[in-house]
Amino acid sequence: MNTGMNKNPVWFGAGRRIHLQEVGTRDGLQAECAFVPTEDKIALVNELSATGLSKIEVTSFTSPTAIPALRDAEIVMREIARRPGVVYSALVPNMRGAERAIEARTDELNLVMSASETHNLANLRMTRAQSFDALSQVARLAQDQGVAVNVSLSCSFGCPMEGDVSESAVLGWAQRFVDLGVHGITLCDTTGMAYPGQVAALTRATRLRWPHTELTLHFHNTRGMGLANVLAGIDAGADRFDASLGGIGGCPYAPGATGNVCTEEIVHALQLMDYDTGVDLARLIAASQRLPGLIGHDMPSQITKAGRRLDLHPVPADFNTIRARALARDTVTH
Ligand code: COA
Ligand code: ZN
Repeated sequence: MNTGMNKNPVWFGAGRRIHLQEVGTRDGLQAECAFVPTEDKIALVNELSATGLSKIEVTSFTSPTAIPALRDAEIVMREIARRPGVVYSALVPNMRGAERAIEARTDELNLVMSASETHNLANLRMTRAQSFDALSQVARLAQDQGVAVNVSLSCSFGCPMEGDVSESAVLGWAQRFVDLGVHGITLCDTTGMAYPGQVAALTRATRLRWPHTELTLHFHNTRGMGLANVLAGIDAGADRFDASLGGIGGCPYAPGATGNVCTEEIVHALQLMDYDTGVDLARLIAASQRLPGLIGHDMPSQITKAGRRLDLHPVPADFNTIRARALARDTVTH
């Protein structure tokens, strides 16, 4: 009998594999005022490598004037301990960045441009057409060198300066990169403007059009819709999500930007829903608890504060007295 109900609704994962890709050391740290010492970045990436994450965006090979917090990209990328099975990627804005990233043995270049003309100019100082031309050359260089290429389209769900960005604009830019033979496309909600219905529509359209291109969804939790958007994406066929440890992050060139969806919160929620993230949550939380010491302030993560759902608390110190008094009331009444 067809009840009209989805046989595998979003809240019952039935063991479906969902890949989590950590972006805290790039999207997170790029926005921090404090410079996290290079050896601490390396130690953090090494800790993250051991948690079962599929991919780690280690750093960005951007101009050190634009993103001073990540000016040590080469050393970090070279000195991390590579764990087989984990893809180590880095954000790359231009040819200079690509050469540096390839030289430092980056597994995957994450090229970036915006689906919004205004944000592209603000962030990358180029029109979208100029960015595309430059990135086409970068993609060719990477392909010649046998390095994988992913393209992140910022503001795919809206631009903080222009407003809505049309689905046809997003799909049109994605098509141009797919035609270049890139391995993956990331649709980024740079400033938390995405909402579930929109996420479902864009995810379905993308999966349908390019079933063999790796699709990643990248949400910021700016308006509290992060987890809802992840679930809407999963229901519409997505199985890869960027997330940041502690929920830190945000684009320094996007007004009002705040952190990504928080990795440990997404893992915690998806595990309860019977999805297979492959991530050791206890280890992830332990890594996250080191963050405030590195960045010098609190972070959005709720799970590191509240604990997991069944991390129970001790009963009050006077619990036995409370119980004895309560039971004594029964004796008096009967
Ligand atoms: N790595 C290292 N240095 C770089 C570089 C790179 N990838 N790209 C540019 N530079 C240097 C140039 O060598 C030049 O240095 P100089 O002044 O000592 O000669 C300087 O930066 C300016 O170069 P130019 O090509 O004029 O770039 P720009 O000033 O127009 O900056 C970007 C363009 C995109 C490279 C720069 O703004 C940038 O890196 N932005 C980061 C964007 C970002 O990561 N945003 C957040 C993530 S979405
Ligand atoms: Zn982002």
